[in-house]
Amino acid sequence: MKVSIIGAGNVGATAALRIIDMGLADVVLVDICEGIPQGKALDILESAPLIGTDKKITGTNDFSEIKDSDIVVITAGFPRKPGMDREDLINKNVCIINSVCGEIKKSAPTSIIIVVTNPLDIMSYAALKATGFSKEKVIGMAGVLDSARFRTFIASESGASVKDIVAMTLGAHGDSMVPVLEETKINGKKIVDVLGKKKVEELVQRTRKGGGEFLPLLNTTAWVAPGFSIAEMVEAIVTDSKKVLPCSVLLEGEYGYNDIYLGVPVKLGKEGVEEIIKIDLGEETKKALDNSAEITRKNIDIIR
Ligand code: NAI
Ligand code: 2OP
Repeated sequence: MKVSIIGAGNVGATAALRIIDMGLADVVLVDICEGIPQGKALDILESAPLIGTDKKITGTNDFSEIKDSDIVVITAGFPRKPGMDREDLINKNVCIINSVCGEIKKSAPTSIIIVVTNPLDIMSYAALKATGFSKEKVIGMAGVLDSARFRTFIASESGASVKDIVAMTLGAHGDSMVPVLEETKINGKKIVDVLGKKKVEELVQRTRKGGGEFLPLLNTTAWVAPGFSIAEMVEAIVTDSKKVLPCSVLLEGEYGYNDIYLGVPVKLGKEGVEEIIKIDLGEETKKALDNSAEITRKNIDIIR
């Protein structure tokens, strides 16, 4: 298996390290900055004996080296800076997505693409259009990260193990994201029954703003949990596990939405998106998802 990661910045390099650490695939790290992908790849390669893996990683500025990739991850683009929201990035990052997708189409035309660049749902749509790949092969990463953040906050608040917390966020990767509270459980009990409505609302708001929480701390956004979330999706695809994960995918009628990318539960396997899973949503959750879909549609309209 070969995974190429376009963008050897914070998120791309962390995803590469995690993929090598998990022994999932050989990795090619690509960036336009000379020296950066080569240096970061060499550092990760030198950790292979410590990990105990013979998986290989190389760094390059030459896009043709992504040839024959099974998966291409796109993390190329600008992250948010203080004062910017994800939507401010649309015009900056769509040009990068278009140029990177041209290279993927040329050198790795049968790959599955995982889009990470923000604003996520809009860039995923842009990547689908720029490549002309089938919708099963262009998948956005956000729900895995947002759900992990929500689980983290619930664990801290309740004292339960993260392993005993079931949670999933749907909708856009932005302030309108939708934690599915009716499915959120702490040790098998409904979250609202354990923590009460007010506390749950606080945790939901913190999750929605989860990316922005890092801006005043780091002057940029996070990379460890994002990198690990990418690897979780890569694992499901390379092992053909059919794991159900929340991912941003093109909807054509599912959940009542058309021609937008939005986070929903999907079964991931070697073909990419193998099924969009329909779960029953309570009235309030469906209303929140409708709102998130509407906001995403307006943002996607900017690039149509
Ligand atoms: P970064 O600035 O550390 O890395 C971005 C890299 O992309 C840089 O090394 C830059 O040289 C490279 N790059 C720019 N244009 C390129 C091109 N045409 N071809 C190849 N490489 C190119 O940024 P970071 O923190 O790694 O974030 C990357 C993107 O991922 C941002 O848009 C950020 O908002 C997004 N992100 C999305 C998340 C999600 O949940 N979907 C989570 C975290 C970040
Ligand atoms: C995050 O949620 C910035 O979208 C990125 O960390």
